[in-house]
Amino acid sequence: MHPEVTDAMMPFLRNPTGNPSSLHSFGRMARSAVESARTEVADLLGCSSDAVIFTSGGTEANNMLLKGYVDRSSERPVVSSEIEHPSILEPLRQLQADGQAVVLLKPDHDGLIDLAAAGEVLPDADAQLLSIIYANNETGVIQPVGELAAMVDRDSCLVHSDATQAVGKIPIDMARLDIDAISFSAHKLRGPQGVGALVVNRKPRNVLISGGYQENRLRGGTENVAGIVGLGKAAQVARLEMAHKKHHLEQLRDVFEARLATIPGSVVFGQHAPRLPNTTYFALTYYHGETLLMELDRAGFALSSGSACLSAVSKPSHVLTAMGVDDSLALNSIRVSFGMDNSLQDVEMLVTKLQELVNKLPAVIRQAAV
Ligand SMILES: Cc1ncc(COP(=O)(O)O)c(C=O)c1O
Repeated sequence: MHPEVTDAMMPFLRNPTGNPSSLHSFGRMARSAVESARTEVADLLGCSSDAVIFTSGGTEANNMLLKGYVDRSSERPVVSSEIEHPSILEPLRQLQADGQAVVLLKPDHDGLIDLAAAGEVLPDADAQLLSIIYANNETGVIQPVGELAAMVDRDSCLVHSDATQAVGKIPIDMARLDIDAISFSAHKLRGPQGVGALVVNRKPRNVLISGGYQENRLRGGTENVAGIVGLGKAAQVARLEMAHKKHHLEQLRDVFEARLATIPGSVVFGQHAPRLPNTTYFALTYYHGETLLMELDRAGFALSSGSACLSAVSKPSHVLTAMGVDDSLALNSIRVSFGMDNSLQDVEMLVTKLQELVNKLPAVIRQAAV
């Protein structure tokens, strides 16, 4: 977490915090802290603070959206993409199993949703909901959400973006983009884990977590006050430091990729598409990704194979498969997410370690890839 986030949260963790619904002074203090955080989120995203519903993170926000806003009695489809996070794809599968029409758009080889192909489908689809990931969690590729939104009927189709990876890293202005809803998690912008928000400017058909009047009765349960305060502070810091952060992270990523290119057989996925500043998703063609990861872990590097959310399961990433990457290369994929505390020296140490592991062949398991 950003040190200012920790500092902002500490008083709410150390001292007795009132319940924001209580009328006494401790309660009123907690309420005021929650409402200030709501305003910070609205300032970061260019939306009204009334639209911000605090949740436990992106997964809950995505579920809330799909389970709360889709009209199951309608034959109008939900349009999304093949490169969504599982917290969109899984609820979509459930909806589909219940008979809901679902259309998934495809990415091109760079991991960018194919606008030409979408143009063939979207204008005539009469979609009731369009939900597109803002920046993919594996490749970091930033999707053309505004252009896709312009292809649907904005009066009758709700446009949502799972922006969990993008919020706080790149500017997002919901008003300018003309989109209705966004999901995200605080821990992706140097805030605490287990808190996030669904930002949405319409009322749902169903409430996912009912039984409490919190969050305008849209998400019941006593608020995670310290977490929400941390999220608010993280949003504020992200807004103020975004340009500096982008510059620093891009420099680390670009130097890393330039050095990586000197290792034979290295491939960077999505390299030719617009990407988040902090993400590099690569494979070394002849080396098994997870074997490299374990060796790198032993040397103190915390990297992921594909998406962290998938790393317990050793199968090719659905994102790479959708991009047309063959299974043997996809199984070698490694994702690096640079952070603000990383330095050029860290990048150098990482590349040196990779080079050392490659030179260790055949000690490193060979993946049949020729
Ligand atoms: C794009 C995307 N959406 C949703 C999520 C889920 O967020 P959380 O685990 O905080 O609920 C993630 C997590 O990495 C993500 O990358």
